[in-house]
Amino acid sequence: MAVARKIKRIGVLTSGGDAPGMNAALRAVVRKAISSGLEMVGIMRGFSGLVRGDFVDMNARSVSNIIQRGGTILKTDRSKEFQETEGRARAARQLRGHGVEGLIVIGGDGSFRGGHLLQAEHSVPVVGVPGTIDNDLSGTDFTIGFDTAINNAVDAIDKIRDTAAAHERLFLVEVMGRKSGFIALAVGLAAGAEMIVIPEEPVDVDTICANLLAGIDRGKASSVVVVAEGQKAGGVFEIADRLTKSGGPECKVLVLGHLQRGGNPTARDRILASLLGAAAVDALIAGHSDVMIGQVNGQVTECPLEDASAKKHGIDRDAIALAKLLAI
Ligand code: F6P
Repeated sequence: MAVARKIKRIGVLTSGGDAPGMNAALRAVVRKAISSGLEMVGIMRGFSGLVRGDFVDMNARSVSNIIQRGGTILKTDRSKEFQETEGRARAARQLRGHGVEGLIVIGGDGSFRGGHLLQAEHSVPVVGVPGTIDNDLSGTDFTIGFDTAINNAVDAIDKIRDTAAAHERLFLVEVMGRKSGFIALAVGLAAGAEMIVIPEEPVDVDTICANLLAGIDRGKASSVVVVAEGQKAGGVFEIADRLTKSGGPECKVLVLGHLQRGGNPTARDRILASLLGAAAVDALIAGHSDVMIGQVNGQVTECPLEDASAKKHGIDRDAIALAKLLAI
């Protein structure tokens, strides 16, 4: 926490993988800041634009007609330069040069690590807003974009079910989630998957194979297995190959990939984005820094940026057990 002082001009950027609802968060930040008498600067392409000084003045009309749009009008990036000490020093100089006295970072864990370092090394007040489809941050029950992403994936699986049933086939569907299974678990539960494969609960191919064959014995004519991308996108093809080689049924593979990140954000994501975006401006005005704004048990809360990215919240073991039970 920093000591409160009157600030006049703040900046906002979106960083890391885009998440549906980032635009809604941006709209809330800009309009809340302007309503509070602050000047607002948008920073293009995340930390890359911050290092280069790619700044645009924003007003209430700059964020018209974006609450319903996926992606981010400010564009986004994963900046290598900002990971270096010199890159962060340049970024701090750009902020000072443009008279920007506080920064709101809408992004995920990598973005918050960067925001924390900018505050620690250059005393720039930084407040984070959790925008990532992965839902892998602590300090908030949900991240902005997660709800839309899981609904996109469930919609795709509902369609796959039709053709899977018609051909009596097995489908392996890979969903995003970098190193975590939060998306896969939620999607698997909502889509009634026969199995969910996540990094938090490693399972070998022989076990997957045995489970699927047991399902066939119980009269299941078609199956859908949801696989978290884990360390590398497309890893599901290896599982499919090994399944076929170890005597499992023939399988079709679907990698949902970036499709999950697109489209109009759900109402739930827009509401979360609006609440957290506005609260982030309040936090900066109150002199808070190095914190992420989240929502826990319905309450808007603050959590240190470092904790939000480092202390991942645990996967819901009860939900894993329930998904297994319901897949008989
Ligand atoms: O962090 C969000 C995310 O969509 C992950 O789920 C995924 O692993 C990664 O970004 C993909 O990154 P990129 O868009 O750079 O391929």
